[in-house]
Amino acid sequence: MPASTCAGPQHILQLLGELHQKSLEQEATISKKKKIFSSEILGDLEDQQPSGNPQDEFDRLMRDKFIALDQDKCQFTYQLINAMGATNIVEAGTSFGVSTIYLALAIAKTKAATGKSGVVIATEKEKEKRKIARKYWAQCGPAVQQEIDLREGDLLETLKDGLPKVDPLFIDIWSALALPTLKTVLPRLRPGSVVLTDNTISGAKGYADLLAYLRAPENGFQNMTLPFTNGFEMSVYMPNLE
Ligand SMILES: C[S@@+](CC[C@H](N)C(=O)[O-])C[C@H]1O[C@@H](n2cnc3c(N)ncnc32)[C@H](O)[C@@H]1O
Repeated sequence: MPASTCAGPQHILQLLGELHQKSLEQEATISKKKKIFSSEILGDLEDQQPSGNPQDEFDRLMRDKFIALDQDKCQFTYQLINAMGATNIVEAGTSFGVSTIYLALAIAKTKAATGKSGVVIATEKEKEKRKIARKYWAQCGPAVQQEIDLREGDLLETLKDGLPKVDPLFIDIWSALALPTLKTVLPRLRPGSVVLTDNTISGAKGYADLLAYLRAPENGFQNMTLPFTNGFEMSVYMPNLE
């Protein structure tokens, strides 16, 4: 990773490179497209075992997978946070905590520069995944660990209360949960807050309800699909305040 893209101690940058590599290798073994799209894999499982419980099977399959945000998207998010001076972030979907490390490094920098307080609110329902995420954050050290509040359990419950004013909200969750997540956090978005959503080109079918909501003028979002691989949606919340 070019040193100018993301600032942090060398051992953290090296760990991030290794974790991205592992994540890509895992995804290549699961999907012909070399990327995991939850709606497609769930659809395949539904076709293969119409009488089983495809959601349970999908959760079981994903329990040991990173599915980390692509490194260039992580770097963009890091830069954006620095540009915005953001310090209170919600990450919907943490997994093994790779993207979370970038968020923590970014807010540490903006907090130091602005003197503001802030936190990365991370969310993960799988106990084993939380354990591994915490292990990687510990390898990074206190500079990362101390920036993260990991909320344990279903994010539709854990994000209901105790949120500061949030900016940005980063959505990296199974597509069916994306719109409910946005609606849960929406009361805590201030005008001008940014919502980032991964894979909005390739995952557009799964995200149909979220994208329709974001693009309906009455809901107050200005949207742009950034041209990263598979798409990365940047939506700015500009509600009509009259
Ligand atoms: C795509 S992964 C997140 C990847 C992570 N942002 C990264 O870049 O390293 C999505 C994660 O959301 C978690 N998840 C799914 N449903 C959830 C829920 N209802 N509440 C909390 N976490 C959930 C999954 O277990 C999975 O680990």
